[in-house]
Amino acid sequence: MKILLTGCAGQLGRELKRSLACLGELTACDRRGLDLADADALRTTVRATTPAVIVNAAAYTAVDQAETEAARADAINALAPGILAEEAKRLGALLIHYSSDYVFDGAKAAPYVEADPAAPLSAYGRSKLAGEQAIAAAGARHLILRTSWVYGLHGANFMKTMLRLGRRSVETGEELRVIGDQVGAPTWTRHLADATAAVLARRDGPEGLYHLAAGGQTSWHDYAEAIFAEAEAAGLMDKSPQIRRITSADYPLPAKRPANSRLDCAKARRDFKLTLPDWRIGLADCLADARF
Ligand SMILES: NC(=O)c1ccc[n+]([C@@H]2O[C@H](COP(=O)([O-])OP(=O)(O)OC[C@H]3O[C@@H](n4cnc5c(N)ncnc54)[C@H](OP(=O)(O)O)[C@@H]3O)[C@@H](O)[C@H]2O)c1
Repeated sequence: MKILLTGCAGQLGRELKRSLACLGELTACDRRGLDLADADALRTTVRATTPAVIVNAAAYTAVDQAETEAARADAINALAPGILAEEAKRLGALLIHYSSDYVFDGAKAAPYVEADPAAPLSAYGRSKLAGEQAIAAAGARHLILRTSWVYGLHGANFMKTMLRLGRRSVETGEELRVIGDQVGAPTWTRHLADATAAVLARRDGPEGLYHLAAGGQTSWHDYAEAIFAEAEAAGLMDKSPQIRRITSADYPLPAKRPANSRLDCAKARRDFKLTLPDWRIGLADCLADARF
């Protein structure tokens, strides 16, 4: 099976490069190898590679910056997936694409299901929703996996930021302020990449829109506490910093985030027999890896 992977240098892309390697002939492109903002390059690369599966891990993920760069976010998160879907349709290929909890406004009191209406609060969320719509409109075989709070050892993410700030805070004695009124499930890139490979290995599995995030739920504040506890257990920190729970209103950012980022993953469990492990398991395993 020929697989074309975009964004292979991103947090998820790196893990996908590893997870997909055993499934067939993998062509993995980073931004230099394939720029999603270049529509001609996209078409040329897909036609030259003739993949059976396109896995799109490239994305514009600078959530706050997107507020002032909406056109660029749209080009990469909406137009490019649409073009990939058109090319997939020409080839009869399957397009696997990742979307986000940020397509929702977070006002729902329970975890979001796939059928819930999307209502993004930010330019990034709108661009991700537009990407989903462009893929569906192209009529290609596709699988859109909405996930949440992605982290891993590579790239930029909340876990790594906390480890950096936490170490500094222990040195200076300053307490860390972390938002406690947004809830979601931190999802380890390795679990998401392995789940993607498991889905692909089935070849004739179901298609469409699925929520796929780690089990359980937490707030950014409680996640930060768990990061420091696990980092101490893994021997990566001697001591945890003092953390204070604050509200989203105490920490205004250019892009508004949903208060509720919880995704109900029952549909993936039912159709693919897939369940990502609880977020605490992912965190502990990820940080255990960091020791080496
Ligand atoms: N991060 C999260 O918390 C989160 C949450 C929910 C859903 N998601 C979704 O999950 C997927 C993977 O996200 P991630 O966390 O792995 O993101 P990431 O670490 O930011 O990786 C995205 C990759 O896309 C590349 N890229 C950006 N612009 C590009 C362009 N014009 N052409 C080609 N490549 C380009 C980046 O390249 P450079 O390295 O050169 O910048 C980067 O390697 C995305 O669809 C994202 O929207 C992420």
